[in-house]
Amino acid sequence: MNQLEKIREKIGVCDDKIIDALAERMVYIQEVISYKKATGIPILQEDQEKKQTDMLEKKLAENEFEEEILDIFKYIMKNSRRVQAKSLFDYNVFLIGFMGAGKTTVASELQRKLEMNRVEMDQRIVEKQGMSVSEIFDEYGEAYFRNLESNCLIELQHEKQCIVSCGGGVVMRDDNAAHMKANGRVVLLKADPATILERVKDSDERPLLNNNMNVEFISSLLDKRREKYRAVADIVVETDGKSIDEICDEIIAKLIEYDNNREAEQ
Ligand code: S3P
Repeated sequence: MNQLEKIREKIGVCDDKIIDALAERMVYIQEVISYKKATGIPILQEDQEKKQTDMLEKKLAENEFEEEILDIFKYIMKNSRRVQAKSLFDYNVFLIGFMGAGKTTVASELQRKLEMNRVEMDQRIVEKQGMSVSEIFDEYGEAYFRNLESNCLIELQHEKQCIVSCGGGVVMRDDNAAHMKANGRVVLLKADPATILERVKDSDERPLLNNNMNVEFISSLLDKRREKYRAVADIVVETDGKSIDEICDEIIAKLIEYDNNREAEQ
């Protein structure tokens, strides 16, 4: 064995140690989650991640490879979040609610917090069709768009661990509830008509509102849909006056409570 091969062999031994240490670390992450779930301690404690980073910086202060090792730890923590989410939510999370209820914003924050995949239903449809939502409505009509939504939900039954931001009208087809529940939980985000108007008023990508951008129209459409939203939802979260962070923490806590209750019933 030449000199280079010997060095490579030593690197291989280091890799084995890293693999063992990482696997052991991930098991502890799962233990933390089980403990938090059982005791009701909040699952996401972002200040804890900050404490860990401070501690690592201290430990590595004199280390020649401080920057590189800290960079690796960023990925370790990111993947710890992924392990955490996998042991919590082994299914898709469907965010439903009226246009402007905050589904897209909440989905992207949940994606960051949980390292889960994110699916924007409207965007998926737009990409597949090569047309905007408004163009699809204009050219083929609403019923055609609703078929595309249903197909998208059926496709998602084969995916896992996605935060799905649904189009606001997804509850209009009765079958869609079953498509979502086959492999997921349904979270209803609620907002007042005035809040909704404030959030959507500058958009022209919502054909149903294009000539109806006012509180009265939003209220009346919301009244027509309210019961459908409620009937499909596994959990409900009010968004008015809350920060994105609060909304996400509430969703996570309520999903865990919902799953615990289901488990207890079985
Ligand atoms: C719709 C909501 C929109 C989009 C389409 C129809 C609806 O999605 O799917 O314009 O019927 O409420 P957002 O709720 O994401 O805006």
